[in-house]
Amino acid sequence: MSNAKVTIPELQSRKGKSKFTMLTAYDAPIARLVDEAGIDVLLVGDSLGMVLLGYSGTAPVTMDEMLHHAKAVGRIAKRALLVGDLPFMSYQADTVEAIRNAGRHIKEAGMDCVKLEGTAKQAPIARAIVDAGIAVIGHIGLTPQTAASLGGVNVQGGSAAAARRILDDALAMEAAGCWAVLMEAVPAALASLITRRLRVPTIGIGAGPDCDGQVLVTHEMIGLFGGFGLPFGRRYADAGALIGAAFRQYADDVRGGVFPGPENSFPIDESIVRELES
Ligand code: KIV
Repeated sequence: MSNAKVTIPELQSRKGKSKFTMLTAYDAPIARLVDEAGIDVLLVGDSLGMVLLGYSGTAPVTMDEMLHHAKAVGRIAKRALLVGDLPFMSYQADTVEAIRNAGRHIKEAGMDCVKLEGTAKQAPIARAIVDAGIAVIGHIGLTPQTAASLGGVNVQGGSAAAARRILDDALAMEAAGCWAVLMEAVPAALASLITRRLRVPTIGIGAGPDCDGQVLVTHEMIGLFGGFGLPFGRRYADAGALIGAAFRQYADDVRGGVFPGPENSFPIDESIVRELES
């Protein structure tokens, strides 16, 4: 693995040749681990609303909350391509506001590009951001910010009409200049067809093995978050169990007088203490 910074043209040139990897990170320690593991793309996703901030969905997440976390990641990650998510209502209402908010991810947080959710209807917003000189990933299929209007967190594209719509969304995002299209909760064979149809890379989450890249929510795959209700992820570690055991051991050690030990305590000349006691 080269230590050189991952670039969009490099990822695009890998289409059909070698798959790339993407994980979420919302803070400095996870960003460091993800980056040092050689993951190609690091997403500061609005999933942080549920994973870190305790919201029940992603809709409440604000642009300022996104930037707070993106800045921490931007300070630390050196190699991975950095993607800042545009949260709900930071881009839908007004194109100028969309460009400004995308620009904040680049200028203030050091992100390399942004991601926005939508259908073909949001493609003109993606176009405006691209025309302002900011690279965009179009996120289609299950779009959690608008899950309520999709009928919940469900697999998308099950009927012929819905599958056609998702293909059209993908083509519209590509035509709008998106450098990649991310598909969430899309049947594997449909994602495979779209991957073959697009010139730009596809990135899948719950979209089968044929996408050009795969993304997972890090806290879910390492056992620190219960998941979003669909079986997207594979659990690669149970960090939650490890951390919980450490907390319980600490509590036992304090209660049992085992912590702190002599190695955690600082000496003082005993005569000083004797003098104070007298
Ligand atoms: O916000 C996020 O983490 C995402 C991924 C689920 C792709 O959009």
